[in-house]
Amino acid sequence: MQVSSCPICDVSINSQFRFCQNCGVDLALAANLAADALSAASTPLKFPVSPEILIPRLGEKLVQRGVVTEEALQTALLYQKEQATLNKPVLLGQALIHLGYLDRTTLDQTITAQILDLQTALSRNNRDLEKRVQEYTADLQRALQKLSELNQLKSNFISNISHELRTPLTHVKGYLELMADESLGPLTGEQVDATHVMGRAVERLENLINDLIKFSETAKGGMSLQLTHFDLPKLLERVRLQALEKAEKRHILLQNKIPENFPRIVADEENIHWVLSQLVDNAIKFTNPGGKVTVSVTQEGPKAIVSVADTGIGIPQERVDEIFLPFHQLDNSPRRRYGGTGMGLALVKRILEAHNAVLQVQSIPGKGTRLQFVLPVANSLP
Ligand SMILES: Nc1ncnc2c1ncn2[C@@H]1O[C@H](COP(=O)(O)OP(=O)(O)OP(=O)(O)O)[C@@H](O)[C@H]1O
Ligand SMILES: [Mg+2]
Repeated sequence: MQVSSCPICDVSINSQFRFCQNCGVDLALAANLAADALSAASTPLKFPVSPEILIPRLGEKLVQRGVVTEEALQTALLYQKEQATLNKPVLLGQALIHLGYLDRTTLDQTITAQILDLQTALSRNNRDLEKRVQEYTADLQRALQKLSELNQLKSNFISNISHELRTPLTHVKGYLELMADESLGPLTGEQVDATHVMGRAVERLENLINDLIKFSETAKGGMSLQLTHFDLPKLLERVRLQALEKAEKRHILLQNKIPENFPRIVADEENIHWVLSQLVDNAIKFTNPGGKVTVSVTQEGPKAIVSVADTGIGIPQERVDEIFLPFHQLDNSPRRRYGGTGMGLALVKRILEAHNAVLQVQSIPGKGTRLQFVLPVANSLP
Protein backbone atom coordinates (compact mmCIF):
# COMPACT_ATOMS: atom_id res chain seq x y z
CA MET A 1 0.00 0.00 0.00
CA GLN A 2 1.38 3.40 -1.00
CA VAL A 3 1.98 5.80 1.89
CA SER A 4 2.41 9.60 1.71
CA SER A 5 1.73 12.53 4.03
CA CYS A 6 -1.26 14.84 4.54
CA PRO A 7 -0.63 18.27 2.89
CA ILE A 8 -2.26 19.92 5.94
CA CYS A 9 -0.99 18.18 9.11
CA ASP A 10 1.92 16.26 7.58
CA VAL A 11 0.93 12.98 9.26
CA SER A 12 1.42 9.81 7.16
CA ILE A 13 -1.69 8.81 5.31
CA ASN A 14 -2.79 5.70 3.52
CA SER A 15 -3.67 6.50 -0.13
CA GLN A 16 -6.69 4.19 0.24
CA PHE A 17 -8.49 6.82 2.35
CA ARG A 18 -10.33 9.93 1.07
CA PHE A 19 -9.89 11.70 4.41
CA CYS A 20 -6.81 12.27 6.53
CA GLN A 21 -7.11 9.93 9.53
CA ASN A 22 -5.43 12.58 11.72
CA CYS A 23 -6.98 16.00 10.82
CA GLY A 24 -10.02 14.77 8.87
CA VAL A 25 -9.38 16.95 5.79
CA ASP A 26 -10.75 15.80 2.40
CA LEU A 27 -7.51 14.78 0.71
CA ALA A 28 -8.84 15.26 -2.82
CA LEU A 29 -9.97 18.81 -2.02
CA ALA A 30 -6.64 19.62 -0.30
CA ALA A 31 -4.73 18.23 -3.28
CA ASN A 32 -6.84 20.30 -5.71
CA LEU A 33 -6.36 23.47 -3.71
CA ALA A 34 -2.63 22.82 -3.52
CA ALA A 35 -2.44 22.24 -7.27
CA ASP A 36 -4.38 25.50 -7.91
CA ALA A 37 -2.13 27.41 -5.57
CA LEU A 38 0.97 25.96 -7.16
CA SER A 39 -0.13 26.80 -10.68
CA ALA A 40 -1.13 30.33 -9.56
CA ALA A 41 2.30 30.93 -8.04
CA SER A 42 4.89 32.21 -10.48
CA THR A 43 7.87 30.02 -11.36
CA PRO A 44 10.38 29.79 -9.76
CA LEU A 45 8.42 29.70 -6.48
CA LYS A 46 8.75 32.84 -4.38
CA PHE A 47 7.36 31.21 -1.23
CA PRO A 48 8.13 27.98 0.52
CA VAL A 49 5.38 25.38 0.00
CA SER A 50 3.29 25.25 3.16
CA PRO A 51 -0.34 24.30 3.92
CA GLU A 52 -1.07 27.98 4.47
CA ILE A 53 -0.90 28.66 0.70
CA LEU A 54 -4.19 26.75 0.49
CA ILE A 55 -6.11 29.39 2.43
CA PRO A 56 -7.25 32.59 0.73
CA ARG A 57 -7.26 35.69 2.95
CA LEU A 58 -5.64 33.88 5.88
CA GLY A 59 -4.96 37.12 7.82
CA GLU A 60 -8.62 38.09 7.83
CA LYS A 61 -9.62 34.61 9.05
CA LEU A 62 -7.05 34.67 11.87
CA VAL A 63 -8.41 38.01 13.11
CA GLN A 64 -12.03 36.80 12.75
CA ARG A 65 -11.26 33.70 14.82
CA GLY A 66 -9.56 35.89 17.47
CA VAL A 67 -6.23 34.09 17.02
CA VAL A 68 -4.33 37.36 16.35
CA THR A 69 -5.25 41.02 16.78
CA GLU A 70 -5.72 43.48 13.93
CA GLU A 71 -2.55 45.33 15.03
CA ALA A 72 -0.50 42.13 15.02
CA LEU A 73 -1.80 41.41 11.50
CA GLN A 74 -0.84 44.87 10.23
CA THR A 75 2.64 44.55 11.76
CA ALA A 76 3.08 41.12 10.14
CA LEU A 77 1.96 42.47 6.74
CA LEU A 78 4.52 45.27 7.06
CA TYR A 79 7.19 42.74 8.04
CA GLN A 80 6.23 40.61 4.98
CA LYS A 81 6.74 43.64 2.70
CA GLU A 82 10.13 44.41 4.21
CA GLN A 83 11.27 40.80 3.81
CA ALA A 84 10.10 40.84 0.19
CA THR A 85 12.22 43.92 -0.54
CA LEU A 86 15.17 42.10 1.03
CA ASN A 87 14.46 39.24 -1.37
CA LYS A 88 13.57 36.93 1.51
CA PRO A 89 9.83 36.40 0.99
CA VAL A 90 7.81 34.83 3.80
CA LEU A 91 4.20 33.72 4.03
CA LEU A 92 1.92 35.63 6.38
CA GLY A 93 1.59 32.76 8.89
CA GLN A 94 5.35 32.39 9.00
CA ALA A 95 5.70 36.15 9.50
CA LEU A 96 3.29 35.99 12.46
CA ILE A 97 5.32 33.08 13.95
CA HIS A 98 8.63 34.95 13.39
CA LEU A 99 7.20 37.96 15.18
CA GLY A 100 5.93 35.78 18.06
CA TYR A 101 2.23 36.53 17.54
CA LEU A 102 1.39 32.91 16.75
CA ASP A 103 2.73 29.39 17.33
CA ARG A 104 2.94 26.66 14.65
CA THR A 105 0.24 24.42 16.26
CA THR A 106 -2.34 27.24 16.38
CA LEU A 107 -1.57 28.18 12.77
CA ASP A 108 -1.99 24.55 11.64
CA GLN A 109 -5.23 24.19 13.59
CA THR A 110 -6.62 27.38 12.06
CA ILE A 111 -5.68 26.27 8.57
CA THR A 112 -7.28 22.83 9.09
CA ALA A 113 -10.47 24.40 10.46
CA GLN A 114 -10.55 26.76 7.49
CA ILE A 115 -10.20 23.93 4.98
CA LEU A 116 -13.01 22.02 6.71
CA ASP A 117 -15.18 25.17 6.43
CA LEU A 118 -14.39 25.36 2.70
CA GLN A 119 -15.33 21.73 2.34
CA THR A 120 -18.68 22.28 4.10
CA ALA A 121 -19.39 25.29 1.87
CA LEU A 122 -18.61 23.18 -1.19
CA SER A 123 -21.04 20.41 -0.24
CA ARG A 124 -23.70 23.04 0.64
CA ASN A 125 -23.25 24.55 -2.85
CA ASN A 126 -23.57 21.11 -4.40
CA ARG A 127 -26.80 20.48 -2.51
CA ASP A 128 -28.17 23.90 -3.59
CA LEU A 129 -27.21 23.17 -7.18
CA GLU A 130 -28.97 19.81 -7.09
CA LYS A 131 -32.09 21.45 -5.64
CA ARG A 132 -32.07 24.10 -8.38
CA VAL A 133 -31.72 21.45 -11.10
CA GLN A 134 -34.71 19.63 -9.59
CA GLU A 135 -36.72 22.87 -9.57
CA TYR A 136 -35.84 23.64 -13.22
CA THR A 137 -36.78 20.09 -14.25
CA ALA A 138 -40.15 20.46 -12.51
CA ASP A 139 -40.67 23.86 -14.26
CA LEU A 140 -39.91 22.27 -17.64
CA GLN A 141 -42.31 19.42 -16.96
CA ARG A 142 -45.05 21.90 -16.06
CA ALA A 143 -44.35 23.91 -19.26
CA LEU A 144 -44.51 20.72 -21.33
CA GLN A 145 -47.83 19.76 -19.73
CA LYS A 146 -49.19 23.26 -20.45
CA LEU A 147 -48.01 23.03 -24.05
CA SER A 148 -49.73 19.73 -24.63
CA GLU A 149 -52.94 21.12 -23.06
CA LEU A 150 -52.75 24.13 -25.40
CA ASN A 151 -52.18 21.83 -28.35
CA GLN A 152 -55.24 19.81 -27.40
CA LEU A 153 -57.22 23.06 -27.04
CA LYS A 154 -56.10 24.13 -30.54
CA SER A 155 -57.16 20.79 -32.03
CA ASN A 156 -60.55 20.97 -30.30
CA PHE A 157 -60.98 24.56 -31.47
CA ILE A 158 -60.20 23.70 -35.10
CA SER A 159 -62.49 20.68 -34.96
CA ASN A 160 -65.43 22.51 -33.33
CA ILE A 161 -65.19 25.66 -35.42
CA SER A 162 -64.99 23.75 -38.71
CA HIS A 163 -68.04 21.63 -37.86
CA GLU A 164 -69.92 24.80 -36.83
CA LEU A 165 -68.99 26.52 -40.12
CA ARG A 166 -70.19 23.60 -42.19
CA THR A 167 -73.85 23.88 -41.10
CA PRO A 168 -74.51 27.47 -42.28
CA LEU A 169 -72.46 26.80 -45.42
CA THR A 170 -74.76 23.89 -46.30
CA HIS A 171 -77.72 26.32 -46.16
CA VAL A 172 -75.93 28.88 -48.34
CA LYS A 173 -75.01 26.18 -50.84
CA GLY A 174 -78.54 24.76 -50.93
CA TYR A 175 -80.22 28.12 -51.56
CA LEU A 176 -77.58 29.02 -54.12
CA GLU A 177 -78.36 25.86 -56.07
CA LEU A 178 -82.09 26.67 -55.92
CA MET A 179 -81.35 30.17 -57.25
CA ALA A 180 -78.98 28.91 -59.95
CA ASP A 181 -81.50 26.45 -61.38
CA GLU A 182 -84.14 29.23 -61.20
CA SER A 183 -86.35 27.31 -58.74
CA LEU A 184 -86.76 30.59 -56.87
CA GLY A 185 -87.67 32.58 -59.98
CA PRO A 186 -86.07 33.59 -63.29
CA LEU A 187 -82.60 35.22 -63.24
CA THR A 188 -81.09 37.90 -65.46
CA GLY A 189 -77.80 37.13 -67.26
CA GLU A 190 -75.87 39.14 -64.64
CA GLN A 191 -77.53 37.26 -61.80
CA VAL A 192 -76.58 33.94 -63.42
CA ASP A 193 -72.95 35.13 -63.57
CA ALA A 194 -73.16 36.17 -59.94
CA THR A 195 -74.42 32.71 -58.88
CA HIS A 196 -71.45 31.15 -60.69
CA VAL A 197 -68.99 33.35 -58.82
CA MET A 198 -70.76 32.60 -55.53
CA GLY A 199 -70.79 28.88 -56.37
CA ARG A 200 -67.01 28.83 -56.85
CA ALA A 201 -66.46 30.78 -53.63
CA VAL A 202 -68.72 28.39 -51.70
CA GLU A 203 -66.82 25.45 -53.16
CA ARG A 204 -63.48 26.93 -52.03
CA LEU A 205 -64.87 27.53 -48.57
CA GLU A 206 -66.29 24.02 -48.41
CA ASN A 207 -62.94 22.51 -49.42
CA LEU A 208 -61.15 24.55 -46.79
CA ILE A 209 -63.59 23.48 -44.07
CA ASN A 210 -63.35 19.84 -45.12
CA ASP A 211 -59.55 20.06 -45.06
CA LEU A 212 -59.66 21.57 -41.57
CA ILE A 213 -61.92 18.77 -40.36
CA LYS A 214 -59.58 16.21 -41.93
CA PHE A 215 -56.60 17.90 -40.28
CA SER A 216 -58.17 17.96 -36.80
CA GLU A 217 -59.26 14.34 -37.13
CA THR A 218 -55.78 13.14 -37.98
CA ALA A 219 -54.33 15.29 -35.16
CA LYS A 220 -56.54 13.51 -32.62
CA GLY A 221 -54.62 10.31 -33.17
CA GLY A 222 -53.83 7.67 -35.77
CA MET A 223 -55.64 7.70 -39.10
CA SER A 224 -57.80 4.77 -40.08
CA LEU A 225 -57.26 3.88 -43.73
CA GLN A 226 -59.69 2.20 -46.13
CA LEU A 227 -57.23 0.16 -48.18
CA THR A 228 -58.42 -1.03 -51.61
CA HIS A 229 -56.85 -2.13 -54.92
CA PHE A 230 -57.37 0.68 -57.41
CA ASP A 231 -56.34 2.06 -60.77
CA LEU A 232 -53.72 4.74 -60.10
CA PRO A 233 -53.44 6.10 -63.68
CA LYS A 234 -57.23 6.68 -63.66
CA LEU A 235 -56.94 8.58 -60.38
CA LEU A 236 -54.03 10.66 -61.75
CA GLU A 237 -56.14 11.58 -64.79
CA ARG A 238 -58.99 12.65 -62.49
CA VAL A 239 -56.61 14.88 -60.54
CA ARG A 240 -55.24 16.37 -63.79
CA LEU A 241 -58.71 17.20 -65.11
CA GLN A 242 -59.70 18.78 -61.79
CA ALA A 243 -56.59 21.01 -61.80
CA LEU A 244 -56.59 21.76 -65.52
CA GLU A 245 -58.65 24.94 -65.37
CA LYS A 246 -56.37 26.43 -62.71
CA ALA A 247 -53.22 25.44 -64.66
CA GLU A 248 -54.54 26.91 -67.91
CA LYS A 249 -55.51 30.15 -66.20
CA ARG A 250 -51.89 30.43 -65.01
CA HIS A 251 -50.53 29.40 -68.45
CA ILE A 252 -48.90 26.30 -67.03
CA LEU A 253 -48.64 23.05 -68.94
CA LEU A 254 -50.04 20.24 -66.78
CA GLN A 255 -49.22 16.75 -68.03
CA ASN A 256 -49.29 13.13 -66.82
CA LYS A 257 -46.66 10.55 -67.80
CA ILE A 258 -48.06 7.10 -67.19
CA PRO A 259 -46.87 3.81 -68.73
CA GLU A 260 -49.35 1.47 -70.45
CA ASN A 261 -51.01 -1.32 -68.43
CA PHE A 262 -49.94 -0.08 -65.04
CA PRO A 263 -50.83 -2.61 -62.29
CA ARG A 264 -53.34 -1.71 -59.59
CA ILE A 265 -51.97 -0.43 -56.31
CA VAL A 266 -53.03 -0.84 -52.67
CA ALA A 267 -53.85 2.33 -50.76
CA ASP A 268 -56.67 4.48 -49.40
CA GLU A 269 -57.97 5.90 -52.68
CA GLU A 270 -59.78 8.91 -51.24
CA ASN A 271 -56.78 9.96 -49.16
CA ILE A 272 -54.29 9.43 -52.01
CA HIS A 273 -56.59 11.51 -54.22
CA TRP A 274 -56.38 14.25 -51.64
CA VAL A 275 -52.56 13.95 -51.43
CA LEU A 276 -52.14 14.19 -55.21
CA SER A 277 -54.54 17.13 -55.45
CA GLN A 278 -52.51 19.01 -52.83
CA LEU A 279 -49.17 18.27 -54.52
CA VAL A 280 -50.50 19.33 -57.94
CA ASP A 281 -52.15 22.40 -56.41
CA ASN A 282 -48.80 23.42 -54.85
CA ALA A 283 -46.87 22.70 -58.05
CA ILE A 284 -49.21 24.97 -60.06
CA LYS A 285 -49.29 27.66 -57.36
CA PHE A 286 -45.51 27.89 -56.95
CA THR A 287 -44.68 27.84 -60.70
CA ASN A 288 -44.58 30.98 -62.79
CA PRO A 289 -46.63 31.33 -66.02
CA GLY A 290 -45.00 29.45 -68.91
CA GLY A 291 -43.83 26.67 -66.57
CA LYS A 292 -44.61 22.99 -66.56
CA VAL A 293 -46.01 20.51 -64.02
CA THR A 294 -45.54 16.79 -64.67
CA VAL A 295 -47.16 13.99 -62.70
CA SER A 296 -45.59 10.63 -63.39
CA VAL A 297 -45.68 7.10 -62.11
CA THR A 298 -43.19 4.29 -62.72
CA GLN A 299 -42.97 0.73 -61.49
CA GLU A 300 -39.90 -0.74 -59.87
CA GLY A 301 -40.74 -4.31 -58.90
CA PRO A 302 -43.26 -4.19 -56.06
CA LYS A 303 -43.12 -0.38 -55.89
CA ALA A 304 -45.15 2.26 -57.69
CA ILE A 305 -43.12 5.47 -57.61
CA VAL A 306 -45.33 8.55 -57.85
CA SER A 307 -43.81 11.96 -58.47
CA VAL A 308 -45.03 15.49 -59.00
CA ALA A 309 -42.40 17.74 -60.60
CA ASP A 310 -42.60 21.42 -61.44
CA THR A 311 -40.38 24.08 -62.98
CA GLY A 312 -41.30 26.55 -60.24
CA ILE A 313 -39.65 28.77 -57.65
CA GLY A 314 -38.10 25.87 -55.71
CA ILE A 315 -37.39 25.46 -51.99
CA PRO A 316 -34.02 26.33 -50.39
CA GLN A 317 -32.33 23.16 -49.07
CA GLU A 318 -32.12 24.45 -45.50
CA ARG A 319 -35.86 25.18 -45.41
CA VAL A 320 -37.16 21.84 -46.72
CA ASP A 321 -38.15 20.62 -43.21
CA GLU A 322 -40.28 23.74 -42.69
CA ILE A 323 -42.71 22.93 -45.48
CA PHE A 324 -44.23 20.13 -43.37
CA LEU A 325 -45.02 22.36 -40.37
CA PRO A 326 -48.78 22.84 -39.99
CA PHE A 327 -50.09 26.33 -40.85
CA HIS A 328 -46.67 27.46 -41.99
CA GLN A 329 -45.70 28.90 -45.36
CA LEU A 330 -42.17 29.76 -46.47
CA ASP A 331 -43.37 33.22 -47.46
CA ASN A 332 -45.29 34.38 -44.40
CA SER A 333 -44.72 38.09 -44.97
CA PRO A 334 -47.81 40.34 -44.81
CA ARG A 335 -47.51 40.87 -48.58
CA ARG A 336 -47.17 37.16 -49.42
CA ARG A 337 -47.91 36.36 -53.05
CA TYR A 338 -49.38 32.88 -52.68
CA GLY A 339 -52.71 32.02 -51.05
CA GLY A 340 -53.42 29.11 -48.72
CA THR A 341 -53.23 28.27 -45.04
CA GLY A 342 -50.01 26.22 -44.99
CA MET A 343 -51.88 23.09 -43.94
CA GLY A 344 -51.61 21.00 -47.14
CA LEU A 345 -48.21 19.33 -46.77
CA ALA A 346 -48.57 18.76 -43.00
CA LEU A 347 -51.61 16.63 -43.74
CA VAL A 348 -50.04 15.05 -46.85
CA LYS A 349 -47.18 13.89 -44.62
CA ARG A 350 -49.56 12.38 -42.05
CA ILE A 351 -51.54 10.53 -44.73
CA LEU A 352 -48.41 9.14 -46.35
CA GLU A 353 -46.97 8.14 -42.96
CA ALA A 354 -50.17 6.19 -42.29
CA HIS A 355 -49.36 4.35 -45.56
CA ASN A 356 -45.77 3.77 -44.33
CA ALA A 357 -44.62 6.05 -47.14
CA VAL A 358 -42.22 8.98 -47.00
CA LEU A 359 -42.51 12.14 -49.07
CA GLN A 360 -39.10 12.89 -50.57
CA VAL A 361 -38.28 16.41 -51.65
CA GLN A 362 -35.71 17.37 -54.28
CA SER A 363 -35.58 21.02 -55.12
CA ILE A 364 -33.35 23.64 -56.70
CA PRO A 365 -34.33 27.25 -55.98
CA GLY A 366 -35.28 29.02 -59.21
CA LYS A 367 -35.36 25.74 -61.15
CA GLY A 368 -38.09 23.56 -59.68
CA THR A 369 -39.20 20.94 -57.23
CA ARG A 370 -39.92 17.21 -57.32
CA LEU A 371 -41.95 15.52 -54.60
CA GLN A 372 -41.99 11.76 -54.67
CA PHE A 373 -43.43 8.84 -52.70
CA VAL A 374 -43.84 5.09 -53.06
CA LEU A 375 -46.99 2.94 -52.82
CA PRO A 376 -47.19 -0.85 -53.00
CA VAL A 377 -48.25 -2.57 -56.23
CA ALA A 378 -51.25 -4.87 -55.61
CA ASN A 379 -50.05 -8.09 -57.23
CA SER A 380 -46.75 -7.88 -55.31
CA LEU A 381 -48.53 -8.48 -52.01
CA PRO A 382 -48.66 -11.98 -50.53
N1 LIG B 1 -43.91 22.83 -55.28
C1 LIG B 1 -43.49 23.76 -54.45
N2 LIG B 1 -42.59 24.69 -54.85
C2 LIG B 1 -42.14 25.64 -53.99
N3 LIG B 1 -42.54 25.76 -52.70
C3 LIG B 1 -43.44 24.87 -52.24
C4 LIG B 1 -43.96 23.84 -53.08
N4 LIG B 1 -44.83 23.09 -52.34
C5 LIG B 1 -44.85 23.66 -51.12
N5 LIG B 1 -44.03 24.72 -51.04
C6 LIG B 1 -43.75 25.58 -49.86
O1 LIG B 1 -44.23 24.88 -48.72
C7 LIG B 1 -45.20 25.66 -48.02
C8 LIG B 1 -46.20 24.73 -47.37
O2 LIG B 1 -47.00 24.08 -48.37
P1 LIG B 1 -48.47 23.67 -48.01
O3 LIG B 1 -49.08 22.95 -49.14
O4 LIG B 1 -48.44 23.00 -46.66
O5 LIG B 1 -49.19 25.09 -47.76
P2 LIG B 1 -49.80 26.11 -48.81
O6 LIG B 1 -49.88 25.51 -50.16
O7 LIG B 1 -49.05 27.38 -48.67
O8 LIG B 1 -51.27 26.30 -48.24
P3 LIG B 1 -52.50 25.27 -48.42
O9 LIG B 1 -51.92 23.95 -48.82
O10 LIG B 1 -53.13 25.23 -47.06
O11 LIG B 1 -53.35 25.87 -49.47
C9 LIG B 1 -45.79 26.57 -49.08
O12 LIG B 1 -46.36 27.73 -48.51
C10 LIG B 1 -44.53 26.88 -49.91
O13 LIG B 1 -43.78 27.88 -49.27
MG1 LIG C 1 -50.66 23.55 -50.48
